[in-house]
Amino acid sequence: MSNRPHWKSRIGFLLVVIGSAVGLGNIWRFPYVAYKNGGGAFLIPYFIALLVVGIPLLILEQGWGYMQKGSAPVAFARFRKRWEFLGWWVAIFITFGLMFYYSAVLSWCLGYLFFSFDLSWGVDTQAYFFNSFLGVSDSPFNIGEIRWPIFFGIIFIWFVNWAIVSRGIRRGIEVANKIGIPLLFISLIVMLVWSLMLPGAGEGVSAFLTPDLSKILSPSVWNDAFGQIFFTLSLGSGTMIVYASYLPARSRINDNAMITASANSLVEVMAGFAVFSILGYIAFVKGMPLADAVKSGPGLAYVAYPQAINNLPFGREAFGVLFFFTLLLAGITSSVSMIETFISSAIDKFGWSRKKITTVVCLIGVAGGSIFATNAGLLWLDIIDHMVCNVGMITMGFLEAIVVAWLFGGTKFISKLDKFSKFKLGKFWVFCAKIFIPLVLFVMFMADTIKNIQKPYGGYPWSALFVIGFGWLAATLVVARFFSKAKWRTDHLKKKYHDEDEALLVEVDGE
Ligand code: TRP
Repeated sequence: MSNRPHWKSRIGFLLVVIGSAVGLGNIWRFPYVAYKNGGGAFLIPYFIALLVVGIPLLILEQGWGYMQKGSAPVAFARFRKRWEFLGWWVAIFITFGLMFYYSAVLSWCLGYLFFSFDLSWGVDTQAYFFNSFLGVSDSPFNIGEIRWPIFFGIIFIWFVNWAIVSRGIRRGIEVANKIGIPLLFISLIVMLVWSLMLPGAGEGVSAFLTPDLSKILSPSVWNDAFGQIFFTLSLGSGTMIVYASYLPARSRINDNAMITASANSLVEVMAGFAVFSILGYIAFVKGMPLADAVKSGPGLAYVAYPQAINNLPFGREAFGVLFFFTLLLAGITSSVSMIETFISSAIDKFGWSRKKITTVVCLIGVAGGSIFATNAGLLWLDIIDHMVCNVGMITMGFLEAIVVAWLFGGTKFISKLDKFSKFKLGKFWVFCAKIFIPLVLFVMFMADTIKNIQKPYGGYPWSALFVIGFGWLAATLVVARFFSKAKWRTDHLKKKYHDEDEALLVEVDGE
């Protein structure tokens, strides 16, 4: 018998998983990646990547957490002790890596939410963002000083996360998502309708939907499509394993994963329409073709949006507040899932009190986040983001496919899930998990490595990539090893289930 808490309802589970998936990746990252890769043509590789890697891997992660009933380290340790470190490694680089800089980006959002009230970004929104607000320095080693407004924003973001996660999965995370996700949908729809009514919106939307087919054969478009799917579905990070581990027996894993992936892509496409209408509007105001009027890139949300807002005939402040509020909501529901990834693992293995460990993690988070509030913050963010997404998450995706589909056995795995789901996995899933996913991820990893050897990522000096990127990834591996060697404090969890069917069928008391 296990006394693991459960989500209160199936809808609650779906909302928390959608909350994790829908984030800055949908509203801020997807539109500029799509724009860079030929607009409508990008949607083709995007949906293919969703079908052959995204959904199968989502099912793999959720199925694994559900079957093993434990956070990532426990789920792997129960199968084979030797793989426990993998669970720790991802939990650490997500909570103490991805979440460090995600909290900084959310702090920018918070800042811009306030700036919207009096449009403090002025006319030159580009100079405002990079110079006045971030004060970006010329090298990652030139740290400069702390930007206090950003730092205070980071404290606030960690505080909100603390308030949610420390209340536990039902009263904290589930409640927050039950409020946040419907609100997010509503504000997104309002924003979408408003954007579509602007002059020039039609041009923008047609740039989004018209395929530039010359790009579809380029390998980098495919690479970006797989990368986007990975990021947007929160894959390769142990988060989905953790969330699914709080499911009761007989859950419909396959069906849940299909719903999650559809809702996530729906938001992504809606955000695409909204952002491209705005770009069309900027082109209209400037009287230029869209491609000349807007530069693509990560500055899109913080440079192009304020610029469009400046030009609106009415409701400028309200539009700004709406946009940054939507972004903030989407981001916070994702950030709680990142923190929970580590918290759940620590509670599982060491039996620590949730309140205490969450407090400690959030304090470390503020300290760690502070590096991203310095003048070099944006540069560190860029380097660590590249490492987490292109090395960390991809390695995890590759290894978990090997562990689950090969070592545990793909056919055995699907037989346990298909029993309770309407949507059956069958041979297609086994093929994807065994052959296709490892192959694609391996090719992506090699392509990125070769590209980096030819030309260091982002034009940074080698020393910076090495010290910051690899140094930090290596440090998380060392800490992960330390955690996996540490002594178990929770006897009931250490034991391996002898009969895996029993693991599926144990009835679990409530919270
Ligand atoms: N899916 C999130 C987004 O679209 C970001 C994300 C990536 C994430 N990996 C994650 C969130 C791991 C939680 C856990 O913004």
